[in-house]
Amino acid sequence: MLLQISTPIPKDIPLPLPLPEWLLVTLLIVSFLFHIIFINLMVGGSIVTLWAQIKGLKEKKYDDFAHEIAKTITVNKSLAVVLGVAPLLSINTLYTVYFYSANALTGFAWIMIIPLVTIAFLLTYLHKYTWKTLENNRHLHISIIALAVAIFLIIPLIFLTNVNLMMFPEKWGTIKGFMSALTLPNVFPRYFEFLGACIAVTGIFIVWYNKRKNYPVEEIYIGFTRLDLKRLGFSIAVLGLALQILFGIVVLFTLPSKGIGFDVIGMMAIAGLLLAVALWYSYQSLVGTADKIDLHFNKIVAFIFIFMVFYGGSRQLYRHNSLDKHQQLMAAHTEEFQRLSLEARLNPVEDELELDESLGEFAMGGALFTQNCASCHKLDEKLVGPPVLEMAKIYKGNIPDLKKWIKTPGKKRPDYPQMPGFDLPDEDIEEISKYILSIK
Ligand code: HEC
Repeated sequence: MLLQISTPIPKDIPLPLPLPEWLLVTLLIVSFLFHIIFINLMVGGSIVTLWAQIKGLKEKKYDDFAHEIAKTITVNKSLAVVLGVAPLLSINTLYTVYFYSANALTGFAWIMIIPLVTIAFLLTYLHKYTWKTLENNRHLHISIIALAVAIFLIIPLIFLTNVNLMMFPEKWGTIKGFMSALTLPNVFPRYFEFLGACIAVTGIFIVWYNKRKNYPVEEIYIGFTRLDLKRLGFSIAVLGLALQILFGIVVLFTLPSKGIGFDVIGMMAIAGLLLAVALWYSYQSLVGTADKIDLHFNKIVAFIFIFMVFYGGSRQLYRHNSLDKHQQLMAAHTEEFQRLSLEARLNPVEDELELDESLGEFAMGGALFTQNCASCHKLDEKLVGPPVLEMAKIYKGNIPDLKKWIKTPGKKRPDYPQMPGFDLPDEDIEEISKYILSIK
């Protein structure tokens, strides 16, 4: 009841889903998973690059490391964009009204994503291709990637705020743009959890990147061995995973109660455990002996991947629970609207003419004139067309010509627009004409 009173309930778009709902939901979760991996790599990769390049001002080997990671950002970015189409379309289709309402409420920030993304992408290319050119101007070069990082940090916040806002229809009435949507519960814990994930996934990626047999570590680096690089990757992963778990717990405890159920808590708990296992193995690899460095790698990847499936599933479940009631209200509202509109179409209401009895026998003509002509013609002054008094003078005693004009008006006055013709029943035009000529 309360939900109903304070919540805007829009009408749904009465179109069937193009695919069964379960298939769209699966598509959403799976495609989002692949999309977010590359988003993680893009954001995490640029953060790590920035960090390593700053460190590289003093220690050259970190600059080389930053260069190697920087080369991967643009590739991961392209994959992230391409893989973003499917989840975006799925969420649009499944939650059209919710998604668009949230987009509209944060309109400016939402549309800013396009220029921001464009600028950030160009900056990453610029950064990558000026590595040699700006060799003697390291600070300028670093500020390019720093700017890209800053933008990369803003964009996910906008996305996250939006998909969060769409789950709170009861708040739509009070939201005034992006800044106020930011204040909704859960935005920041989820954001920091996401940043943790970016760092974690990038750490694992760095291990894999430097693990590849045909990757010539010895030719690229002076000062870093393959083992050093893998350890570096694992330490980044450990940091990221720890942050992710920490903020994941905050997310769980600050989750607004309306979508929470044992199903959501259960799935999130499993997800958390999987991540903890990944963290444990990463830590073991980091502190273990050199010969064991690759031992747990596949397990870590598998645990993170399964974590993502569970985590994505729990988010979808939470979204479903949060919106379930509202969706039912909206379905009822839509049905009621369709019933009323069908009824209205089956029983069209005739336009009632208001007769002015004081006009006597010209009352009908007067009413028809008001309905059809008064928007352009006033009694005694020019409106869009000439005043009625002028017509009456021109057509005095000449009903047939006046009727002819009304049906097919000519073009007479150079400083007036063209009058539209009227396809009214002859009796109506006769009445109107009599009325006009009755005016003195
Ligand atoms: C969309 C505006 C518009 C509407 C509606 C409109 N008129 Fe006109 N009417 C004009 C304009 C403009 C002129 C002047 C046209 C010209 O002189 O070329 C005009 C001119 C006339 C004239 C003068 C003709 C002449 O020979 O000088 C008459 C009579 C007239 N309208 C009657 C009517 C009647 C009756 C209706 C309603 C059935 C009507 N108009 C509805 C715009 C309108």
